[in-house]
Amino acid sequence: MTKNIVIIEGDGIGPEVTRQSIKILNTIADQFGHEFNYRYCLMGADAIDKTGNPLPDETIESCLNCDGILFGAIGHPKYDNDPTAKVRPEQGLLKLRKSLQLFANIRPVTTYPSLHHLSPLKTKNIEEVDFVIFRELTGGIYFGKKEIDEAGTRASDDCVYTREEIERIAHLAFKQAQQRRKKLTLVDKANVLETSRLWRRVVKDMASQYSDVELNFLFVDNAAMQIILNPKQFDVILTENMFGDIISDEASVISGSLGLLPSASIGSGSALFEPIHGSYPQAAGKDIANPIGSILSAAMLLEHFGLVKEANLVRTAVNWTLENGFVTKDIDPVNFYFTTTIGELISDFVSDKIPVDVNKGNIELRKSTII
Ligand code: IPM
Ligand code: MG
Repeated sequence: MTKNIVIIEGDGIGPEVTRQSIKILNTIADQFGHEFNYRYCLMGADAIDKTGNPLPDETIESCLNCDGILFGAIGHPKYDNDPTAKVRPEQGLLKLRKSLQLFANIRPVTTYPSLHHLSPLKTKNIEEVDFVIFRELTGGIYFGKKEIDEAGTRASDDCVYTREEIERIAHLAFKQAQQRRKKLTLVDKANVLETSRLWRRVVKDMASQYSDVELNFLFVDNAAMQIILNPKQFDVILTENMFGDIISDEASVISGSLGLLPSASIGSGSALFEPIHGSYPQAAGKDIANPIGSILSAAMLLEHFGLVKEANLVRTAVNWTLENGFVTKDIDPVNFYFTTTIGELISDFVSDKIPVDVNKGNIELRKSTII
């Protein structure tokens, strides 16, 4: 299979984690006889520095004409604390989502037994947690009319949804539920917001087409609490843009490290895959970032191409590293391995080069100095 992939390394740790994914994609290509061609494009603070524009037209053009996009991370502290900045890295990502009509952001949340101790939740509450959030990504308050008066004392952001916008993502969420444990939870604020009442009506109307799926509803404040109290209850969560942004970050800490989780943003054309973590500028260039969020995003990209066996091999390799203590600093601050070493190990596993009795002593380990 030949696929053309756009690579947007982005900001902070984006380039170093994305490079590990490319290493693994190349190994998969060799092993299974595929050809992956890469085109590198700019977005975010990196693009502002080089072109003055967080999303150059060339990037949009390449993304519209490719088979899939692998993206690293976005954001730089110099823009975060400056509310007057007219040009911001995040504008690039929002514009790309809109230009490609990436209306569904999909974030799976799973836990790993070897990392249970890192979770802020009690082990008994997180064993077997396995759910996926479908967040609407191109509508709602993010993209409504934004206004501020001349005096700068009154501002507003409109939240608008149409039936069609709700239906297209709800179909995806219902279908996903059918392939999983057949439970769909719509998270909204229908006791207060008109848009949420529309979400409820539309999703209820669709339920008869998916009669094998149990549909239920939760207000977002309650959902935020339930995700902490009893995350096992969830299978597929469907929600609008802003609520999804918030609860997906909340849910991401359950597994123990933000660095592990992948995401896919899909629409009717090319889809984009990215780790859910940010640009983590403090770690940039130090070879200590966790590449697994990006590598698992590459696995989602493979699955999107229909390469299920390949995607599962990457996931098995990732599990193998975690179970054997080959982890980055976010997971073990004392005995940790470099970003590049983890990438090499996963790549070696994929190409079957790891000896059964792997000798950890031969693998570069970086021990931090405890003073
Ligand atoms: C995310 C991020 C973005 C969002 C930012 C960077 C604009 O938080 O992908 O969740 O709010 O959607
Ligand atoms: Mg977010």
